[in-house]
Formats: sequence, C-alpha cells, structure tokens
Amino acid sequence: MESQKFPKGFYFGAATSAHQVEGNNHNDWTEWEKSPERIADLKKRGLNPEGFISGRACDHYNRFREDFDIAKKLGHNAHRFPIEWSRVEPEEGKFDEKEIEHYHEVIKALRDRGIEPFVTLWHWTLPLWVRDQGAWENKKTAADFVRFCEKMAVEFKDEVRYWMILNEPEYWIGHTYALGIFPSGKKNILKIPLLYLRLARAHRFVYRKLKKINSDFQIGVVESTGWIEPFAARLFLSYVRNFLFPWLVKGYFDFFGLNYYRVNDLLYFLHHGKREKSEIGWEIYPEGICRLAKKAHRYFKKPIIITENGIADSTDTKRAQFIRAHLVEVERAISESVDIRGYFYWSLLDNFEWDSGFGPRFGLVEINYKTLERKPRQSAWEYAKIIAPQKYKEVN
Ligand code: BGC
Repeated sequence: MESQKFPKGFYFGAATSAHQVEGNNHNDWTEWEKSPERIADLKKRGLNPEGFISGRACDHYNRFREDFDIAKKLGHNAHRFPIEWSRVEPEEGKFDEKEIEHYHEVIKALRDRGIEPFVTLWHWTLPLWVRDQGAWENKKTAADFVRFCEKMAVEFKDEVRYWMILNEPEYWIGHTYALGIFPSGKKNILKIPLLYLRLARAHRFVYRKLKKINSDFQIGVVESTGWIEPFAARLFLSYVRNFLFPWLVKGYFDFFGLNYYRVNDLLYFLHHGKREKSEIGWEIYPEGICRLAKKAHRYFKKPIIITENGIADSTDTKRAQFIRAHLVEVERAISESVDIRGYFYWSLLDNFEWDSGFGPRFGLVEINYKTLERKPRQSAWEYAKIIAPQKYKEVN
C-alpha cells in the first residue's frame, strides 16, 4: 500500500476539532462539563469528573505551529479543523478581531508548511449567548449561524478553498435529543424532526451564501456513517443512520465528507468476539468504508472525502493496521470508479473525547496531558510511509 496507488493530488492528513484540542474555550460544552448535574452523574457512575473537563486540552490554541510541524514531518498535505464560533463571536453580533486574526495565523501556518486547510464551521459547540437563546431549538440560531459563516467566508475567502458546514449533524442530534448524553443532557425525541429540518435549512442557506462569496469554494456535507449489520436492519436503517441529512441538503454540497469508524451490528450479542474491537468497544470493519463510499457515490454523484477515520488505541498496537486496512478499502473504491479525493485520520492529536473525557486515545500523536509533550506514535510513521514511501523508508 503506497500513495502512488492514489490519484495525483490526493489529500492525506488528519482532523481535529476546536473544543477537543484548543483548550480554554468558553462555550456551551465547557459550562456543561462543570455543571452540578454533570458532575453528580459522573460521580454516581464512579468516575472522576476531572477527566471530563476539557480545560486546557492539548493547548493546541498556543501550540498549533509545533503541531503543524509534526504534521508536516509526517508528510500530511491537508488538515481539517474548525473555526470556533464561541471564540470569534463571544457576544451576539460582536466579532472578536483578535480571534479572527488567530485563525488567519493558523491558516497561514498550514499554508507555510504546504498543508491545505479544510475548515469546519460547526463542530458541535455553541457560544453561550446561543445556548441561552435555546440553541438550535430557536429558529433565530440558524440565522445567527448563517451570519457567522458569511463573515468567516468573506474574511478567509482568499485563504480557504474547502469548507464543511456542519459536522455530523445527525450524530449530534441523536446524542443530544435521543440519548441525552450531550449538553444539555435532556432527552426529547419529539424535537428530533424539527432539529433535522432546522439544521438542513441552515446548511442550505450557508451553502448559497458562501457560493455567492466565492463560486470556487468547495463546500461539503459531513456525515457520520457506520456499516449496519445484519442485512435486514441495514435495508431500513442505512438511509436514516447514514444518509438522511445529505438527502435533506441534496444539491447543496460539492463534496460528501464521509466519517467512518465501525460496524454497528444489531446482532452483536450473537456475533460477540467475531470481530476485532477498539479500546472503546467499536467493532472494526474496514470493508465498510468502501461499501459506504460506493453507496454515497451512487446516491449523490459527488466527489467523496474521508473526513474522519480512526481508532482509540492507547497502546498503539492496532492503529497502523487499522489505517492500512481502511486505506486498502479506499483504494479499492477508487479502483471501482468512486471519486475519492482525500483521507483524514481522526485525529492528529489525542484529544478530549466529548462525553467520554480524556480516556480514549485517538491520536497519531500522543499527548502527555501533564507536560503537554507531543510524541508521534509509531503508527503515525507507518501512515507517513504510505503517504511518502521513499521519504520514510528509513524511519524505524
Ligand atoms: C466526531 C469527533 C469524535 C470522533 C470519535 C466523530 O464522530 O466528529 O469529534 O472525536 O467521532 O468519537
């Protein structure tokens, strides 16, 4: 498996999200992490709340240059990350120029290293004033989000070509309203249809506005997918789990961002032990990435970018093989005429895993959370060898 097998100009990189790596954010999640209900719930489950407060995370906000130096050494030519809405617009309608400047520097640091920026406009966190007005349940939030996106697009129109509007909206809706494990922690399945329609409407608006600002922008939808087993369940659920949101915004995206981690086997109790698992129990099924890419290609006829694919593996015993096996499947899809343009491993760094705290380790780069020391794992070099085999022949 070598990069030569991929089309010329193929993007190889990794992804992060602001809240998970930057540190010292101030948004709906940071407040929720420290709320008495959340802390009580963690304690009830015998967990130490400290490990579930994002705090300074990886301090990527201050160390992004060091992190991009590592990405460059690892041969990456693309990087996916969000602009954090709560930093840029901490008060309604008041944009913080210093924070906007920060993201100019982030983008410049990437470009200086020959790394193409892929910018996400919403990766699950909201400014506090948006939370206080009822988050996405309030119709006004969609209008506010469109304004924020427009402002960012104007600001970065000459620096960024690839944009993603909403990260995995259906995953966020499900974890918030069906499972109640994302803030505010209150389930309400009756609100789900409204949320889908609202987020889809916001997406369509943003797409239209951004295209007017620069028709060359390449704008993606980012979908959380999972290969569903068994067949009978897949027939019905595959559309809901994998493709409902993109259907709602069909015609309003230039590429399909496919996030893929695992198989969701509804008969798991029967097949227990059959497949290998990650440290957080996610069953590994590399073929799924090829099969889902083929479906996305058939349904939407748009280029595909693998915007996330990764494994929690603190001992780094499975990651290299995981990446290799998934890239073989990506390559297989390409050889069967699926137009796949890039692959982003999740994640460049170990990071704050939302409701699961700092436990799961997804990073190509290990973070020592006490000293903040960064150390590329062996698997990061194995990935580098796939990207640039000649250059990394000698590494370990
Ligand atoms: C999310 C990431 C998250 C990853 C692993 C994805 O669905 O976009 O933010 O860290 O899954 O849980």
